[in-house]
Amino acid sequence: MILSPSILAADFGILAEQIKRAETAGAKWLHIDVMDGHFVPNISFAMPVIASIRKYTDMFFDVHLMITEPERYIREFIKAGADGITFHIEATKKPLECIELIKKEGKSAGISVKPGTAVETIEKYLDKVDMALVMSVEPGYGGQKYIESVNSKIRYIREKMGADFNIEVDGGIDNKTIDMAMDAGANVIVAGTAVFNDDIEGSVKELLR
Ligand code: DX5
Ligand code: ZN
Repeated sequence: MILSPSILAADFGILAEQIKRAETAGAKWLHIDVMDGHFVPNISFAMPVIASIRKYTDMFFDVHLMITEPERYIREFIKAGADGITFHIEATKKPLECIELIKKEGKSAGISVKPGTAVETIEKYLDKVDMALVMSVEPGYGGQKYIESVNSKIRYIREKMGADFNIEVDGGIDNKTIDMAMDAGANVIVAGTAVFNDDIEGSVKELLR
């Protein structure tokens, strides 16, 4: 299992320090939520923040693009330091172009579905990507409740793609819901509010138990 703490819930005033604490406790990936105020109602941060934190860690930068027409910006996110880029099927008319832009730079490509989007919409792209991201909350905000009905989508993808494919689950993960997600077949676990609290080290260790 890979834990990918989401910095959306971190204290941005001491961001590098908080990332280091998660890394030291055993997290290998870092989940980076980019929001444009258009694809999702919220706005977060973008390339300059990613380029800044790139100097402080070698963790795998797992960039989750919640932006409309991601094909316009994929190159810039790679330049800023992304190791993997996940885009939303609902955000683009050109999923193949997105995958190609990511793969041609040698980076890992991910494709994501919102909770209300059928898993069939990404089915024909699965053998072209490295990861599927199943959203377990409506994208836009941290600290929401895990939507259990997405477990069947995780199960469907795991059955179709076999053991060697990355399936990431994002939203509402805590010490209880993590079991559900992993039982369904997820192997990359995003956690924001469950990691970036007063006890980052203890929280990471407990999720990785
Ligand atoms: C939501 C983001 C998530 C969010 C998860 O749009 O994609 O990554 O940060 O936050 P928690 O773990 O608090 O639900
Ligand atoms: Zn995310």
